[in-house]
Amino acid sequence: MKGFNTMAQEVRGVIAPGKGEPVRVETIVVPDPGPGEAVVQVQACGVCHTDLHYKQGGISDDFPFLLGHEAAGVVESVGEGVTDVAPGDFVILNWRAVCGNCRACLRGRPWYCFNTHNAEQRMTLASTGQELSPALGIGAFADKTLVAAGQCTKVDPGVAPQVAGLLGCGVMAGIGAAINTGGVGRGDSVAVIGCGGVGDAAIAGSRLAGAARIIAVDIDDRKLSTARELGATHTVNSRENDPVEAIRELTGGFGADVVIEAVGRPETYQQAFYARDLAGTVVLVGVPTPEMKLELPLLDVFGRGGALKSSWYGDCLPSRDFPMLIDLHLQGRLPLEKFVTETIELGEVEKAFERMHHGDVLRSVVVL
Ligand code: APR
Ligand code: ZN
Ligand code: ZN
Repeated sequence: MKGFNTMAQEVRGVIAPGKGEPVRVETIVVPDPGPGEAVVQVQACGVCHTDLHYKQGGISDDFPFLLGHEAAGVVESVGEGVTDVAPGDFVILNWRAVCGNCRACLRGRPWYCFNTHNAEQRMTLASTGQELSPALGIGAFADKTLVAAGQCTKVDPGVAPQVAGLLGCGVMAGIGAAINTGGVGRGDSVAVIGCGGVGDAAIAGSRLAGAARIIAVDIDDRKLSTARELGATHTVNSRENDPVEAIRELTGGFGADVVIEAVGRPETYQQAFYARDLAGTVVLVGVPTPEMKLELPLLDVFGRGGALKSSWYGDCLPSRDFPMLIDLHLQGRLPLEKFVTETIELGEVEKAFERMHHGDVLRSVVVL
């Protein structure tokens, strides 16, 4: 092991102890990094809906969870065989280290990697020795966390950690949905349905890519005004107006080149499907639930042509996308700081869930 410490360490971490129970700060044990692993000193970690879903038992029953997964920090120590990152590197964490050997990686499409991995060792609760399940293989509402070294991507340390960490999840998903999955380019018209953190990021990504017209659709006027700040040129409140009609009207009667669905519901997917121009692209980045069903005339699917795509984590490749997006942010071309509504302390995650649930924040970010 290369680094400053030579023993497992005890630090603070935010634990979801059981289904629906409030989260709390507890002492956790972070082992020294084994082969291929790294210990990261967390500097900032955003609060995401997925953390709330873990707490509610909506993702799995593997309690206790160590929550937090939208994080940036400094590598403290690395295990044997780690060469891509070293102690002292400023990094953004991603959910899954790419394997390099699966059928997707071998065909040159590592962003689809079908065999990603996380750290092999487990962090534990100091009080009981119980193994913790880190949210999305990260667990970064903690002073330090153990991850696979491939989950760490070096970026320019000139960026604020609370801004950098956002690329670890929702904001990257939205930007990538526009740029990587949707292939938005100069002059395109884009509509984004659902303007939470993910949809707003799709708007910022579309603007960065040179879209000429960016139409934001939401049922909440507060969300539409933030969407404007991030680059929407037009807004539609779909509670008051038919969004398909409105998008067509704003695009010469034809529909948008790319429509991004960032809600994850059949109704909004259907709106996206009909609000796009002939041969246009629909991107589904909102995540549906198991009982949802979609019904569409197959003739329309054929007759309208184009592409119906799903976007997994923005089809991002962290090693390619994180450093580039941070550089563009530092050049003033990508206002990532607008996604940070508030910074909070480790003990305030439960309160932040409340505010998120009520739609009061884009992102609360824990700063350590
Ligand atoms: N039409 C338009 N907008 C809607 C509708 C609707 N029928 N229903 C909800 N919305 C809006 C909400 O008002 C909110 O602004 O969609 C937005 C959803 O935002 P968030 O709840 O903040 O969720 P976000 O983090 O942006 O994620 C969106 O992407 O990654 C997935 O699991 C995530 O499915 C979720 C989606
Ligand atoms: Zn997330
Ligand atoms: Zn792979």
